[in-house]
Amino acid sequence: MSVATPALEVVGAGHVAQPDRPRLLRVSSLSVSFPGAEGRESEVVSELSYEIAQGETLGVVGESGCGKTMTSLAIMGLLPSGAKVSGSIEFDGKDLTAFSPRQWRNHRGREVAMVFQEPMTAMNPVMKVGQQIAEVLVKHERLSKRAAFGRAVELLASVHIPSPERRAQDYPHQLSGGMRQRAMIAMALACRPKLLVADEPTTALDVTVQAQILDLMLELQDTYGTAIQFISHNLAVVSEVAHQLMVMYSGRIVEYAPAEDLFANPLHPYTQGLIRTLPDIAQPMAELYTIPGSVGGKRPSGCRFSNRCPLADARCREAEPALREVTLSHHVACFKVN
Ligand SMILES: Nc1ncnc2c1ncn2[C@@H]1O[C@H](COP(=O)(O)OP(=O)(O)O)[C@@H](O)[C@H]1O
Ligand code: SF4
Ligand SMILES: [Mg+2]
Repeated sequence: MSVATPALEVVGAGHVAQPDRPRLLRVSSLSVSFPGAEGRESEVVSELSYEIAQGETLGVVGESGCGKTMTSLAIMGLLPSGAKVSGSIEFDGKDLTAFSPRQWRNHRGREVAMVFQEPMTAMNPVMKVGQQIAEVLVKHERLSKRAAFGRAVELLASVHIPSPERRAQDYPHQLSGGMRQRAMIAMALACRPKLLVADEPTTALDVTVQAQILDLMLELQDTYGTAIQFISHNLAVVSEVAHQLMVMYSGRIVEYAPAEDLFANPLHPYTQGLIRTLPDIAQPMAELYTIPGSVGGKRPSGCRFSNRCPLADARCREAEPALREVTLSHHVACFKVN
């Protein structure tokens, strides 16, 4: 498959990492599994450890099915029933894994909010857009209905929805895809959460609208200082917004580094393949490279990438490489990287 979007210009890393910001989120050895046939468990996220600093964007990239959404749902406390979680998630000094359902309800929307690929899954189709945003404010900020509606209109204006008073009276289906995504971002940011989890927020949109939504997210981050976990299967999209990048493959982190470092010096063979799939601006008509094979099917023994890796040898098929810090803040899981 190709992960590239030809018309998006890749600028390398959209942001430069800013060191020494206080930490907001720390995920340690997070694993998620589901019960499978004959009592066998299938682990869809394995031993993930990463951090997000306040006001920073972590880009999470990897092919469909590699565990990006399950990771975000774990952070939101929204995993489907039956999922088994281990490891720890620490947010602003609080241990989320110890949260009761009530604590999660208070936390979501106020401290952390999520936007999805398809806003309709998160919006009520029979409630006016302004009212839906107002409802969040009534719940978490205890505003009166009237004050909350006024604030909802302001929020729609802040995400550049034209005629926000009129749009606030619309139902979600009356908005275009791009406007709906803006409205969902307005709803997510209503209570100024410290972290926004954006799961493929631009994937369903055409390229021009995608670029506008990415610009909007950067603008809001500058204004509100919101940290963002930005998820996409598309490295070109992630590279526009991320300070740090985490590349996932088959439930694991294979490379994790400051974005500019990862682009300048990709070390894992899978990351190198992903970067090769990006269109070359100098040769826009050249045929796009695709990484041979696919993620689906039975997981190989040893390194999970060994059945697709051009460098795989016997050792790679026997043991699984651990994620190691090979240079300052640059982590890789591959036996062949020194
Ligand atoms: N309810 C579920 N039960 C069992 N496996 C699931 C369930 N939901 C998702 N999965 C599996 O978890 C893996 C990771 O899925 P997901 O996190 O949605 O991937 P991504 O977001 O990277 O495309 C996939 O292999 C998927 O089939
Ligand atoms: S450990 Fe081996 S198979 Fe895995 S990515 Fe490195 S070289 Fe390839
Ligand atoms: Mg997903």
